[in-house]
Amino acid sequence: MFCSCHSPWKRVVILTAVVLALSWIAAQSPAWAQPAATSYAPAGWDAGLKLPEAPDTNPDPNIVEVHITAKMAEVEVAPGRTVRAWTYNGGLPGPLIRTKVGNRLIVHFVNELDEPTTIHWHGVRVPIEMDGVPGISQEPVKKGESFTYDFIVPDASLYWYHPHVMSAAQVGYGLYGPLLVEDANDGVGVADTTTIVLSDIGFDSKGTLEDAESGGSAGMVFGREGSYVLVNGRTRPTIKARAGAPQRWRIVNTAKSRFFYLDLEGQEWTVIGQDGGLQARSTKSNILLITPGERYDVIVRPTGKPGAELTLRAMLYNRGYGSIEYRSVEEIMTVALTNEPAVTKVDLPVVSRTITPPPLAGATPVPVVFTLPPQEAGHSEFRINGVPYWKATPFKAKLGETQFWTVKNDTDWDHPFHLHGYFFMVVDEKGAPLQPMVWKDTVNIPMKTTARFLVTFDERPGTWMMHCHILDHAEGGLMGTVQVGDGPATEHTHPVPKKP
Ligand code: C2O
Ligand code: CU
Repeated sequence: MFCSCHSPWKRVVILTAVVLALSWIAAQSPAWAQPAATSYAPAGWDAGLKLPEAPDTNPDPNIVEVHITAKMAEVEVAPGRTVRAWTYNGGLPGPLIRTKVGNRLIVHFVNELDEPTTIHWHGVRVPIEMDGVPGISQEPVKKGESFTYDFIVPDASLYWYHPHVMSAAQVGYGLYGPLLVEDANDGVGVADTTTIVLSDIGFDSKGTLEDAESGGSAGMVFGREGSYVLVNGRTRPTIKARAGAPQRWRIVNTAKSRFFYLDLEGQEWTVIGQDGGLQARSTKSNILLITPGERYDVIVRPTGKPGAELTLRAMLYNRGYGSIEYRSVEEIMTVALTNEPAVTKVDLPVVSRTITPPPLAGATPVPVVFTLPPQEAGHSEFRINGVPYWKATPFKAKLGETQFWTVKNDTDWDHPFHLHGYFFMVVDEKGAPLQPMVWKDTVNIPMKTTARFLVTFDERPGTWMMHCHILDHAEGGLMGTVQVGDGPATEHTHPVPKKP
C-alpha cells in the first residue's frame, strides 16, 4: 500500500485534522476581520416606524446626492387623523438622509411652499455658505425657487434638517427630517439599529394647523407644544424586539418646544453617544431627557416575558410654568416582545472614544446672561445680555480662538441652547469637562442655573447663529450671533415679531 490514507477511518482522521486546523486559523484571524454583528430582531421589527429614505442618485460611493422638496401634503398622524402639513417630500418627518462619514452630500432643494424657506443642517460642521440662515449664509428660497446644498459630512452622528425662516412656525408645521452620518467602524456592533424622530404637531378637528402665534406673548414664553405627540410622524407606533437582545436607537427631538423625558418601564438605557457622536465611554440611566435639538445614541435591551408589551412613556419634566401643571404622562411607543426565549448572553463591545477637550489655558471668558424682564404693554421678550436678538450685535471670536462661555439662565424656564457650526464641551466651574466627555451642539440650561462650555472656533469664518431651541423663545428674543474671524459678516434678517 503506497498510502495509508486509503483506509476509510484514516481519511476521517485526516479530514478532521484539516477542519480543526482551518477553524483554528479562522479563530486567529486579525481584529479587522470582525464578524458581522448578530441580528436578533424579528423580520420587519421596525416596520411600524421606519422612515422612507431619500434615494441616492449618485453612483459614486463617496457622494450622496438627494432631492428634497418642501411642499404641502396631507399626512395621517393617527388612524383617521389627517392634517395638511408642511413637509419635505410629502412625508412627516422628511425622509432619512443616510450618509457615511466623510461623504460629500449634495441636496437639490426645491421650495414649492407659498412662503420662503431654507434648510439648516443642525449640528453639521458645514461652511457658512451652507448653514441655511437667511440674510447670513444665503437668501431665503422663495416659492418655486431652488438651492443646492453641497458639503462634506465630517463627523459621524445623527443630525437633522429644518428651516431657518420663521422657524417656530415652519418646524411646528412639519418641516424637519433626520440626517444620519454613519461610521461602519464605530465598534458599536449592534445590528438592529433604527432612527427615531420625536416631535409634535397641533391642529384642530378640521385638520387645520394651529396658529404659530397662538396664545400671544404668553404662548411664546411658555413655548407652544402640539397636542399630537409623534414618533416618526406616527401616534404610538409599535416596534418589535426579542427580549434581552440589544437594539440601537438613534433619537432626535425635533419638536419646537416639547421636551421628551423618556421612560421604558424603568428599564436601563445605555447611552453611547450624543449630538457630536460617541461619548468617551458609555453611561447607564433609567430615564433619558432629550430637549429640542438634541440627539441621543442609546442601546436598549428590553426585558420581559416573551410576548409582553412594554410602553415607552414621555414623563412629566418641569421646564417651567405650565409644563407639568394639568399635564399627563404620554404613552408614545409600544415595544412588543416576540414569543422567542429571551437572549441571555450578548457581548457588547465596550464603547470608547478618545476626545481631546478644547484647551482651558488662555480661553477667553465670555459671560452670557438670559433674562425675561417683566412685560411691557402686554408684551414679553427674552434677552441675551440685556437685548433681544433684533437689537443684538454679534459676539466676536478670532479664528482659532478658544472661548470659555458661562451662560447664566436667569429666567424661570429651561433653555436648550444651540450653537451653529461648532461643537462645544460642557465643563464645570473650574473648566474641567463633565464626564464622560462628549461633543454637544445643543445643551439644556435648566431654569436659574448656569452652564459652562469650552469651544474652539477653529476654522470656517462667518456669522454663526446661537439661540434657544425652544423656537418660540428664539423668535421671542433668545437668539444671537457669533462673528468668527473677519468675514463674511452679515446681519441676520429675522423680522421682529408682531406685538400681540
Ligand atoms: Cu436647529 Cu438654528 O437651529
Ligand atoms: Cu428657551
